[in-house]
Amino acid sequence: MASIRTAPLSQAELFSLVAKDLRRVDKVIGIETICCANVVTSISEHLNASGGKRLRPALVLLASRACGETGDGPIRLAAVMELIHAATLVHDDVIDAADVRRGKPSANSVWGNQVSVLAGDWLYMQAFSLAVRERNFAILDLLVDLTQMMVEGELMQAELIGRLDITEHQHHDLIHRKTACLLSACSRLGALLADSGEETEERLRNYGWNLGMAFQLIDDVLDFEATEAVLGKPVGNDLKEGKVTLPLILALKTCTADERTQIETVVRDGGYESVSLDRILEILDRYGTIAEVRRRAMRYCESALDGLATLPDSRYKRALEQAVLQWAADRAS
Ligand code: IPE
Ligand code: IPE
Ligand code: MG
Ligand code: MG
Repeated sequence: MASIRTAPLSQAELFSLVAKDLRRVDKVIGIETICCANVVTSISEHLNASGGKRLRPALVLLASRACGETGDGPIRLAAVMELIHAATLVHDDVIDAADVRRGKPSANSVWGNQVSVLAGDWLYMQAFSLAVRERNFAILDLLVDLTQMMVEGELMQAELIGRLDITEHQHHDLIHRKTACLLSACSRLGALLADSGEETEERLRNYGWNLGMAFQLIDDVLDFEATEAVLGKPVGNDLKEGKVTLPLILALKTCTADERTQIETVVRDGGYESVSLDRILEILDRYGTIAEVRRRAMRYCESALDGLATLPDSRYKRALEQAVLQWAADRAS
């Protein structure tokens, strides 16, 4: 991995750099999600009270501060990015018929699909309403492209659901759209807000993108290996939902016909009644694909760090370097 020259920061120290700003972001989110339709306010409050790592707002704040921006623009844009994230989660849980989000009942399971879809729409628009107040077309361009990319990603996911013939290339495109684009937009926004010029913008875009790719690969691995208490959502859920992620895509390339049938059975049943999660884990273990996906995640982490090399040294740059270890690579150990 590219070198981290300074002493590592703990997760608490990392967030403590922007803790005050993050509290202001949460305040903006609280104010901006009051809607005349009470149910939308309730859904937003429910989502915010359930936690969430606040990775995206932290990324906007760290990137913009690393570029020397000291004003309040990053606070507002950090709120915008968390609102877009929240809207995608509300819609995603409807699409995936998910019961749990952030360790609490999902919005759709409490308020139903119809209301949740409309609440998600409202949250998207509220994010844009807040962004428009910056009067900056570059920011709007970025947000429009991002939102369309993410929606296209969900459409692509819907097409590929339940399909064991999904290719590595299709999977790459999918995680690029559904996760990496959002993180890359967050870090790029930092450079944009600071007016740091195209080169820095591109480098920070690259940083966030690589971080996002690593983050999603590890998220896919954790879906097999973590516990519900840690994840805030059930384990083994992706395959149950028909999502064939990279560890499985790689295993399917060389596994036996019998093993393929067992994987197919979980997808067809939408659960592990006939074929257990342990059996699927045995298959992945046999072909070493979880370890391979972790190696690939580490390579994205290395590229993320390379992107930071030319930024002037600061506590914020150090935190961005450390974020790679804390948010992606650490999860890979
Ligand atoms: C969830 O993102 C969606 C994915 C990209 C896997 P996070 O894991 O960052 O969700 P919260 O905001 O912390 O709940
Ligand atoms: C959802 O993707 C995250 C989005 C970017 C919309 P997934 O469906 O794979 O993630 P989880 O498991 O629900 O968080
Ligand atoms: Mg989902
Ligand atoms: Mg989904």
